[in-house]
Amino acid sequence: MTSRDGTSPAAGFNPAAPRPAGVDAAVNLADLEALAASRIERTAWDYYRSGAWDETTLARNTDAWRELEIHYRGMVDVSGRHGRTTLFGREVPCPLVLAPTAMQKMAHPDGECAAARAAGAAGLPMCLSSLSTTALEDVRAATSGPLWMQIYISQDRGFTRDLVARAEAAGIEAFAVTADTPVWGIRERDMRNGFRVPDGLRIVNLERPGGPTGHSGVGIGGALSWTIDATLTWKDVEMLASSTSRPVLVKGLCRPDDVRAAIDSGAKGVWISNHGGRQLDGAPATADVLAECAGAARGRATVVVDGGVRRGIDILRAVALGADAVAVGRPILWGLGAGGEAGVRRALDILRAEFELAMALAGVVSPAEIRTLGRDLVRRRG
Ligand SMILES: Cc1cc2nc3c(=O)[nH]c(=O)nc-3n(C[C@H](O)[C@H](O)[C@H](O)COP(=O)(O)O)c2cc1C
Repeated sequence: MTSRDGTSPAAGFNPAAPRPAGVDAAVNLADLEALAASRIERTAWDYYRSGAWDETTLARNTDAWRELEIHYRGMVDVSGRHGRTTLFGREVPCPLVLAPTAMQKMAHPDGECAAARAAGAAGLPMCLSSLSTTALEDVRAATSGPLWMQIYISQDRGFTRDLVARAEAAGIEAFAVTADTPVWGIRERDMRNGFRVPDGLRIVNLERPGGPTGHSGVGIGGALSWTIDATLTWKDVEMLASSTSRPVLVKGLCRPDDVRAAIDSGAKGVWISNHGGRQLDGAPATADVLAECAGAARGRATVVVDGGVRRGIDILRAVALGADAVAVGRPILWGLGAGGEAGVRRALDILRAEFELAMALAGVVSPAEIRTLGRDLVRRRG
């Protein structure tokens, strides 16, 4: 059927075609978030979504990406575009990493293994949280893709050394030491809810001989207070970096001098992050500090950034400001809650497709080219 102006109104849209359902119906990450919100138990949902105190940093993280304008180029042949890059010697199809988030089995019974399978299928690195609800060996067995692990340096340094050795033996390829958690940040929703580790779940990788087995029914801050340490200094990063042959990233930095200190302490990577706004409320949005931090790393370390990335175009923005890779935390939990492994696959597919479309529309063909163009391509408004 052709209309009077000669166009076919049905082109590209068939009202009789079957509509996708479940996670396949999610057009963007916000759709997955809404689906997950309807499926995850409320206190767990509050734990996942919360930021610290007034959640100023949580909100700024997302807004700051959107303030970066893309000065796209016209008439560039983008037919050969690709998202490939190399992270710690492994080629990945897109500069995207799954950030470590605690207790993924609250979002879906398959938890960390489902996320790892989805990451592996996409060829993307997953960073396992040390507060995971699945043994690291089981997560390793779930995927042949790149697998990293996040580490809190514990008050019991021997325990941390043993954990790193165990993880290395299991085939963990890189370690991210969290630097923004000398003490736990305050999430007031969790206080109101009296948040506890749900029945049946265990923070398995942090069980010590002679300590409690399982953590069901206890608050994280209390039960796991020994796993973090307010006395940490760069010396402890040196200790960790020299205790493993795998690359160490320092996660949770927002200052160029800390980036330099991390590299001087033996880190091969720096992870610009404010813990998704869950630690110090009032910390700057990562998009606002990325360029100066990446400048301080200046080719000496791999730069990862996370916080508020909700669109593939944010990956382009971050790479232009100097990131080698971008990580997402909550969007993975949304995928898990919305549909387990299939939901995480959907989240990763959406981000990758958006990134590749954004590259085409911006007139660039690869992450390397985005990095070269840098601030010629992406600039703050005004
Ligand atoms: C529910 C939740 C749990 C988290 N658990 C950890 C953790 O165990 N270790 C860690 O280093 N970061 C943790 N993070 C921070 C993430 O690794 C990441 O920095 C943050 O989620 C990025 O922000 P985004 O959620 O806006 O993508 C957690 C974040 C969330 C939302």
